[in-house]
Amino acid sequence: MKVICVFGTRPEAIKMAPIVKELKRRKNIETLVAVTGQHRQMLDQVLKVFDIEPDYDMNIFKQGQSLSDITVNSLTRLDKILEEEKPDLLLVQGDTSTVFAGALSAFYKKIKIGHIEAGLRSDNLYSPYPEEANRRLTSVLTNFHFAPTKGSKENLLKEGFDEKNIYVTGNTVIDALKYAVKKEHKFDQEILNELDYENKKIVLLTSHRRENIGQAMENIFSAVNDVVNEHDDVEVVFPVHLNPKVREIANKIFKDNEKIHMIEPLDYLPFSKLMSKVELVITDSGGIQEEAPALGKPVIVVREETERMEGVLANTAILAGTSYQKIYDSFKSLIEDQELYEKMAKAINPYGDGKAAVNIIDIIEKEFDLK
Ligand code: UD1
Ligand code: UDP
Repeated sequence: MKVICVFGTRPEAIKMAPIVKELKRRKNIETLVAVTGQHRQMLDQVLKVFDIEPDYDMNIFKQGQSLSDITVNSLTRLDKILEEEKPDLLLVQGDTSTVFAGALSAFYKKIKIGHIEAGLRSDNLYSPYPEEANRRLTSVLTNFHFAPTKGSKENLLKEGFDEKNIYVTGNTVIDALKYAVKKEHKFDQEILNELDYENKKIVLLTSHRRENIGQAMENIFSAVNDVVNEHDDVEVVFPVHLNPKVREIANKIFKDNEKIHMIEPLDYLPFSKLMSKVELVITDSGGIQEEAPALGKPVIVVREETERMEGVLANTAILAGTSYQKIYDSFKSLIEDQELYEKMAKAINPYGDGKAAVNIIDIIEKEFDLK
């Protein structure tokens, strides 16, 4: 049996890596990796960490690429690869434009599709944008829906997908995280070695969502800036996404604040290590919303909607929206209210036990009569 794994961005690479590793361990499966290169530096660092050498690199990346650029270029290049390789199954992970283009290209060739991390829904097509649509469009084309949680399975059932094609597997983000936190790592960035994690409250900030770029992101950064300025013991580390639009807003609002440390995106191992050392996390990321609870870190989610309600329902995440006041209030309470902090800072793991990749490949072997 021949399986092709298609991915293109940092988070897909992190969550697909355990799948690629596990597939390569199975003797009766030939595994191919095709990266679109939707991200470049941010993708390459993950490939290096997990020691994955792509068989195909479509290298579609260009600065300021539009959603259509990503979709069209991935689709045309994948078409040739699938024509040549004729795989039995194509695997995609998550909700990026690479995922949608990957699924569509397989559908056009009548190749079976497995969707990893299927069934997450915010029920607002414009938030997260365009991810909610990418995920829904991919579901329609998918043969095997690998839902990370029972909640995501329920979402698919509500939309009429056949239960026999839906498998609850856990999220491979936890498989990857378990691998990462086991590894020893010293930070290359001196500032991360110098921070006083014991006596200060070090906060990790990330923000990159397309729908937040503009006023929402200004609100997020302004609220963070003000809380930091009002508390002597609070400092922020902000690995800034490479999107120039994010950088512009960050530079405008944080430029004179010495307690906000803006750094380049971190490689996955140092990033995981940093996350395990900080007091709390403020983010609009999808993956980080899953990782932080597993590490016992309270999360303030700076988005209007989240398709990951499990953390919110387990009281380790606050869905703060994108208005200045709610973010300011949530951040301030978590800094000042020790009882609230303790209540939220418990390690819970609604996203799986670290065996999602094994579960998924076992299902594939069974479905393709290899077992
Ligand atoms: C993409 C995904 C989003 C995911 C995010 C993870 C889509 C539409 N968006 O958003 O779902 O949450 O990745 O980070 O699929 N850039 C670089 N080098 C890189 C990566 C990005 O310079 O390695 C810059 C480029 O200027 C690029 C911009 O960032 O144009 C945006 O990248 P893009 O892949 O278009 O979207 P993201 O916002 O990263
Ligand atoms: N991450 C990383 N370096 C960073 C920021 C994030 O390695 O500087 C990792 C993080 O651990 C998580 C993933 O990247 O696994 C999340 O990616 P991102 O926030 O870009 O995308 P999303 O999950 O929102 O799609």
